[in-house]
Amino acid sequence: MAIRTVGVLGCGLMGSGIAQVAAASGYKTIVREVNDAALQAGMARIKKFLADGVAKGKVTEEAHNKTLGNLTGTTNTADLKECDIVIEAIVENLDDKRAIYQAVEAAVKPETIIASNTSSLCITELASATGRPDRFGGLHFFNPVQLMTLVEVIRALTTSEETGKTLTEFAASLGKEPIAAPDRPGFIVNRLLVPYLLDAIREYERGLGTIEDIDKGMKLGCGYPMGPFTLLDFVGLDTTYYIANIMFEEFREPRFAPPPLLKRMVLAGYHGRKTRRGFYTY
Ligand code: 3HC
Repeated sequence: MAIRTVGVLGCGLMGSGIAQVAAASGYKTIVREVNDAALQAGMARIKKFLADGVAKGKVTEEAHNKTLGNLTGTTNTADLKECDIVIEAIVENLDDKRAIYQAVEAAVKPETIIASNTSSLCITELASATGRPDRFGGLHFFNPVQLMTLVEVIRALTTSEETGKTLTEFAASLGKEPIAAPDRPGFIVNRLLVPYLLDAIREYERGLGTIEDIDKGMKLGCGYPMGPFTLLDFVGLDTTYYIANIMFEEFREPRFAPPPLLKRMVLAGYHGRKTRRGFYTY
């Protein structure tokens, strides 16, 4: 199936990154937010990333202008009617996702594919919440979307062969490296990453070392771009806690159980960079 027009639901951290990458790859891209304030904030994030890219010599003026020229923002779901694919990147709430899928399906063509960027919800359950479970799949991007080249492509039990193929080809057309991941909590990357992050917290609580030294150890000793606590703050402690709970609920393995300190930090509102306080203060 030929994709020309891309819809993105949500212009938060992930949605704005996905919209930017789609527009930069030459797709006419329409990003939808719930209200004007959220839309303006998301568009401002995209403009800043592009402007920073120009200042760093990573993005040409031409690419900057082409990307913005391909991009439109809206608060009206009906404006997505031309879209060949709609990528959902809204809050991780099943009821909210169900409601938006219903609104999207009322607007788009029957053949339009809907994909979710969820990091934790079951793709088959989301597909079943639509009237097109065969034209639905997972496209899981990584933060920051503009810089991380991986996309996990997840087929629901109901995803058709054609949809799976289109999703993989679409991810590659964005300049990303697609990998096929199973519809199981955490897919591939978070299945391995989250237990590692939880382990870092558990071992810190047991006195393994200071936060700074553990981070320095993994960064300089293993060549990871960020140590586990910097990465936890970057991903968000609330997000990590949420994913861990879903994984623990499904697999019942202790390695997925969120450690007590993580739970308390989330309850205290220490969610990482976005709240200016996590394992570090920003
Ligand atoms: N436009 C274009 N390019 C830009 C840019 C911009 N606005 N800003 C930075 N860049 C380029 C830089 O020029 C640089 O390019 P180079 O490698 O060719 O020199 C590159 O991007 C890296 O940028 P910086 O040098 O400014 O920053 P760092 O080297 O510190 O890297 C990082 C930043 C890429 C975020 C790196 O720290 C990293 O990879 N961290 C780990 C991130 C990670 O693990 N993400 C996944 C989280 S898990 C997830 O998302 C799943 C979810 O479900 C939880």
